Amino acid sequence: MIGLYRPLRCLTPKATPARRLRPRTAASFYSTSTSASTSATELHPSRQKWSQPPSTATVTDAEIANLSNKHQHSLSLADLVRHGRPPLSTEALYSSANFTLSLLPIRLAHRIQALRNLPFIVVSNPNISKIYNNYLHSLSTLLPWKHRTISNIEAEIQFTSVLAELVQTHQDTIPILAKGFLECRRYISPGEVTRFLDEHLRARIGTRLIAEQHIALHYSSVPHFDPSASPTPCPEHPSYIGVIDTALCPADVVNSCANWVAEICEYKYGERPEWIVDGEPETAFAYVPMHLEYILTELLKNAFRATIENRHKKEPIVITIAPEPPDAGPPKVKLDPPAENLGAFRSEAIKPLDDNAPGVTIRIRDRGGGIAPEVLPNVWSYSFTTFSEDDMPGGGSGADALSVISNTGGGGSSIAGLGYGLPLSRAYAEYFGGGIGVQSLYGWGTDVYLRLKGVGKIE
Ligand SMILES: Nc1ncnc2c1ncn2[C@@H]1O[C@H](COP(=O)(O)OP(=O)(O)O)[C@@H](O)[C@H]1O
Ligand SMILES: [Mg+2]
Repeated sequence: MIGLYRPLRCLTPKATPARRLRPRTAASFYSTSTSASTSATELHPSRQKWSQPPSTATVTDAEIANLSNKHQHSLSLADLVRHGRPPLSTEALYSSANFTLSLLPIRLAHRIQALRNLPFIVVSNPNISKIYNNYLHSLSTLLPWKHRTISNIEAEIQFTSVLAELVQTHQDTIPILAKGFLECRRYISPGEVTRFLDEHLRARIGTRLIAEQHIALHYSSVPHFDPSASPTPCPEHPSYIGVIDTALCPADVVNSCANWVAEICEYKYGERPEWIVDGEPETAFAYVPMHLEYILTELLKNAFRATIENRHKKEPIVITIAPEPPDAGPPKVKLDPPAENLGAFRSEAIKPLDDNAPGVTIRIRDRGGGIAPEVLPNVWSYSFTTFSEDDMPGGGSGADALSVISNTGGGGSSIAGLGYGLPLSRAYAEYFGGGIGVQSLYGWGTDVYLRLKGVGKIE
């Protein structure tokens, strides 16, 4: 296996100079008086919505309007696995490519339209406008394919490389958007930012999943079978269908992510908390390992940080794996030939294979002192954090979220500070119909319940 559970957000530190703002606290997060500035401060902070933010790409307004007026197809995981189990035949590979092509331009156009609907001064911020231009660029690379049918191997290879570039282009979206919205915080309220990001980042999860699924299927198809070249963990592993592992063991992912987070703790605090996995660690279910890695890394960071910062209690973090009882027999999903009619658009999220797919609940219990009642209502807001590097051993430098982003490339190798961990983890969990609940026993510790709905049974 090639790096099966490599933590997703192990990003290379970037040496971008940080613009220093004063340290953010719970109170200052909601304060409107701030020294934040943007390169667009010369512009009047108008609330007017503009249809044409600055752009460098060559997609016409008519094309964007045309695509963004189209409904997004309702998408289910059955669609993602309907091309069959790997290795895919050449015909099934073309079918996957054409299906991917039918979805992505509309999804990108919807995102472009949502960015255009932000106040002009916000989308003019260099970071937000970088993301806007990334979407325009990606759409411009897909449009030449729009009226084509992929039916030969050269075209399929070219198309897959366009997808690989798309995934790469949008790799750093989260830290860049986080930076942009921090710089714009005097022009847009935290509530508006959370509303925008919640929709945008959920849509991004689906778009990446669609593109990554075809890339993974490409490498595990008959014409291109090459395990060593695959960007996905192990195409030769029979439990994988593209990026979905039909026999994922959450306890393995917990241990791998906890080891990674413990290393960050050792580096940042000079100590690593202990953890115990109990319940039914042998449980396996069908899920997307990359998503589970993201969620568990963020939840474990929170639990580990709280445990270390609670000077008096160094009890181990207990992670309990509780499989749901087997269902009373929902129909198993068969890999039927592709259906032409995808149905009407219902939501951004991808529907699970079946509503009764057995799930797993993972409880992460720490003795880190809990969450203060005045903090609790804010923890689901993007950008809300109680982290300050001043609290780190040896003192800090007054650093804030902007320097966390600049120093770590988005918080991947930082223990906290971006304030995206809980809301984004919840977005991932809800994507397939799961969820996250936080129970704080203030003065004692926190229980986080991560409920994951399996993506369904696949025969
Ligand atoms: N297990 C926990 N124990 C105590 N506080 C927590 C825990 N989980 C989350 N929090 C609180 O919620 C806030 C937001 O968490 P999160 O969204 O992960 O952002 P960040 O970790 O970057 O601050 C944290 O700053 C912290 O105050
Ligand atoms: Mg966190």
